[in-house]
Amino acid sequence: MVLLGEIFPDFMADTQLGTIKLHEWLGDSWGILFSHPNDFTPVCTTELARVAKLMPEFRRLGVKVIALSCNSVESHRKWIKDIKSYGELTDEEFPYPIIEDQTRKFSTLLGMLDPAEVDSQTGLAMSARAVFIIDPNKKMRLSILYPATTGRNFDEIIRVIESLQLTEKYKVATPVDWKKGDDVMIDPSVSDSEAKASYNDIKTVMLPSGKTYLRIVPQPIDA
Ligand code: BEZ
Repeated sequence: MVLLGEIFPDFMADTQLGTIKLHEWLGDSWGILFSHPNDFTPVCTTELARVAKLMPEFRRLGVKVIALSCNSVESHRKWIKDIKSYGELTDEEFPYPIIEDQTRKFSTLLGMLDPAEVDSQTGLAMSARAVFIIDPNKKMRLSILYPATTGRNFDEIIRVIESLQLTEKYKVATPVDWKKGDDVMIDPSVSDSEAKASYNDIKTVMLPSGKTYLRIVPQPIDA
């Protein structure tokens, strides 16, 4: 199972858009890979439609999107008709690949099998609702596992990507519930004197400990 900061596994996988070698397909982009227990299931259908609608946002952020579901490419092709209809998606081609994983090869490799969710026909465990963010160096930067009955919040995934891209560029961290444009905090590794040299608008929050680790600044904007 891949851990945060480790290189995300590279593999060849069949999708409805052809065979993909993951690292080559990602190129220099950020990536998200999200998994599904089963084709033709209600929560998954809403999620795939929502991600298709968010594609302009993912493109703006330079993020490639790939899904996985524990069924065949043939099944994915039929399911995509339902997803397009549900999401009122008018483009002819579905905008991102869905990996086939009826053997659970990739779900096992990525530690995504959910023993609580078993396919009634095959008796095989199904993939959890996992989501991974992969950076341009192929390092895994986020992983979340959701239960099968809870749909994900892809606005949150975009928020994390925006935070990761910002904090890659600047020595800042983003506070609770941060949204793009909100104030940020100076990274604790930056000394007070370094911080003063870089920012002229620092609000240091006074705390009972007397420590000055909570230093708020406006979000840096690219020059
Ligand atoms: C769903 O996607 O709706 C779903 C899948 C597996 C179990 C429960 C719900």
